[in-house]
Amino acid sequence: MNFNSPPNSPVQSMQEWFDEAHELRPTPNPLATTLSTVSADGIPSSRMVLLKGFNEHGAVFYTNYESEKANDMKENDAVSLLFHWDDLQRQVRIQGRAEKISAEESDTYFASRAKLSQAGAWASAQSQPLKNRAVLMAKVTALTAKWIGRNIPRPEHWGGFRVSLDTVELWQGHDGRLHDRIRYTCTDGSWDWVRLQP
Ligand SMILES: Cc1cc2nc3c(=O)[nH]c(=O)nc-3n(C[C@H](O)[C@H](O)[C@H](O)COP(=O)(O)O)c2cc1C
Repeated sequence: MNFNSPPNSPVQSMQEWFDEAHELRPTPNPLATTLSTVSADGIPSSRMVLLKGFNEHGAVFYTNYESEKANDMKENDAVSLLFHWDDLQRQVRIQGRAEKISAEESDTYFASRAKLSQAGAWASAQSQPLKNRAVLMAKVTALTAKWIGRNIPRPEHWGGFRVSLDTVELWQGHDGRLHDRIRYTCTDGSWDWVRLQP
């Protein structure tokens, strides 16, 4: 990303930063991102999710469609994603609208997951109270036995969301807190940008 002469669209720079975070960081989840949602009664809530897909149409993560976050997004599709790579002194902020991806896209990703994760998606009513861990593990064991030797299908209550890229800010840290910031805004498919003071 050349902050002296920012490209017209942020998409390629974001992809480069995601690739570099992947290549340069010795952490298991360099594409972990903070998803913030707002409930119907205006209460904000943040949690981590994993970025699993990215292009000009948006950023994709997977979750339970009946979880607290999904309930928030059902009522209010405005969300934000926040990436931070401390050792690279970089931050990416995304604001956009969340929508479910197609069932086919979710099926493809679900099929690529480990069996235990697939059984877990069936077993866990994410965000609901759980009496104890043994209850959950018994469900996982029973489900794994049920599908032994067969492919585990994707539960309808589990799949992906795509967050559109409405505003994107790329932030590069510098000494003396004299950081670079460029905020892009997308209107009807065309990008505009503004440089912000650090
Ligand atoms: C590094 C990290 C990555 C995570 N990735 C996901 C994810 O991709 N999808 C997901 O549903 N939960 C993920 N979680 C768990 C969520 O942070 C959260 O606990 C869970 O989704 C329930 O959130 P909710 O009750 O607000 O819906 C992750 C947690 C961590 C710490």
